[in-house]
Amino acid sequence: MSLQNTRLTALGQHVGTSTTIHAWVTHLRSSGKVAFAVLRDGGGVCQAVFVKSQVSVEVWERYQKLTLETAVAITGEVRAEPRAPGGFEIGVSDLAVVGESPVDYPIQPKEHGVDFLLDRRHLWLRSPKQRAIFVVRNEIEQSIHDFFYQRGFLRCDTPILTAAIGERSGLFETQYFEEGVAYLAQTGQLYGEAAAAAFGLIYTFGPTFRAEKSKTRRHLTEFWMIEPEMAWYDQDDNMALQEEFISFLVQRVLERCGEALTVLERDTAKLSAIKAPFTRVSYTDAVDVLQKKGSAIEWGQDLGAEDEALLMADHHGPVFVMNYPKEAKAFYMKENPADPRTVLCSDCLAPEGYGEIIGGSQREDDLDRLVARIKHEGLPMESYDWYIELRKYGTFTHSGFGLGLERTVAWICGLQHIREASLFPRMMYRLKP
Ligand code: 4AD
Ligand code: MG
Repeated sequence: MSLQNTRLTALGQHVGTSTTIHAWVTHLRSSGKVAFAVLRDGGGVCQAVFVKSQVSVEVWERYQKLTLETAVAITGEVRAEPRAPGGFEIGVSDLAVVGESPVDYPIQPKEHGVDFLLDRRHLWLRSPKQRAIFVVRNEIEQSIHDFFYQRGFLRCDTPILTAAIGERSGLFETQYFEEGVAYLAQTGQLYGEAAAAAFGLIYTFGPTFRAEKSKTRRHLTEFWMIEPEMAWYDQDDNMALQEEFISFLVQRVLERCGEALTVLERDTAKLSAIKAPFTRVSYTDAVDVLQKKGSAIEWGQDLGAEDEALLMADHHGPVFVMNYPKEAKAFYMKENPADPRTVLCSDCLAPEGYGEIIGGSQREDDLDRLVARIKHEGLPMESYDWYIELRKYGTFTHSGFGLGLERTVAWICGLQHIREASLFPRMMYRLKP
């Protein structure tokens, strides 16, 4: 049975007629003879106006008992009202309480600590800022699919339960019948490479897991990654695609999420400046710059968060740091012919202190070198036999990258911490709710 419901975002189509809406109460204000309730239905907001002389005694009494987050059904005439939140109001003729909300609703219009809010994430999501974040996240996800669809990439979903280790960070393990230990995927890349050899241009879009004991504002233990893998792309082609991709995502959010960015108080001028091409700096030059700025980094070490921040202080747009030392990066990256101490890779660092949002590389396509790297890293060769066969049967130049979704959302939304970019964030000390 239909509820004959009107969505608040569609109120404009009902001006001058009587309609019924279902929503939650977010705000109450009464002046004796006239009373107001601001309502939210998840999509939009509107104001309901109760005039004592025009509603039944029962309706007026029901209004008096309303509390924050009561679920209601309201019927009345829709009017355009530029001063009301959302631009419309309803002159109420009937009010029914669908779901009561006791007065101890935990999230009140005042400052709450972030741990308090995270413990009540299931309720915190109802606040306008949280909605704005998920509007932007949704737009970014849709833009990602559009970007690759327009370019003829095939989306491939890779397994989450795996036998092979992809990255160096921590692993979540689980017992897998008689087969031994299974790992939750840290990356879809290795399977993505097999798919690229089969289908040419592909991307994965799925959850990835890292048992990292990092309590930083950039780390989650479960996050979503987008990993394109391109046959016949070298590392230059790879970076060109990445800068086009990032610029596309930012542009789409600017075009379509103006209201959400306003709620988030995002400085959009900084986003409007994000345009390809991005600055490129080699790892070796970056270390020079950092040492001159006083960092203790030595050639060979990975850039830490502080080094990234120091380096990015001079830049307003994203920067590619290219060709890291082999020892600092994963086994599958292709040796740099111009300097075999390094590999053909890049990290794309976002501006405004958001750090690495993309890691990418050209893949080692030489069978012997790949086998040597796997051995050198002490990885179990038998888990990689299928991966190595991609180099045995028609090896090919190919490259790819991984974009961290939550880090990208955090940057574009201007969030302090990555946790708010996830519906129910998983972090070292948080598995609930
Ligand atoms: O640099 P990473 O580890 O690269 C890979 O996993 C490659 N397999 C990608 C590829 O070439 N196909 O991770 C890629 C991105 C990072 O740049 C970051 O944005 C995100 O994934 N990321 C995290 N996001 C949140 N929490 C974490 N713990 C993350 N670790 C990586
Ligand atoms: Mg990385």
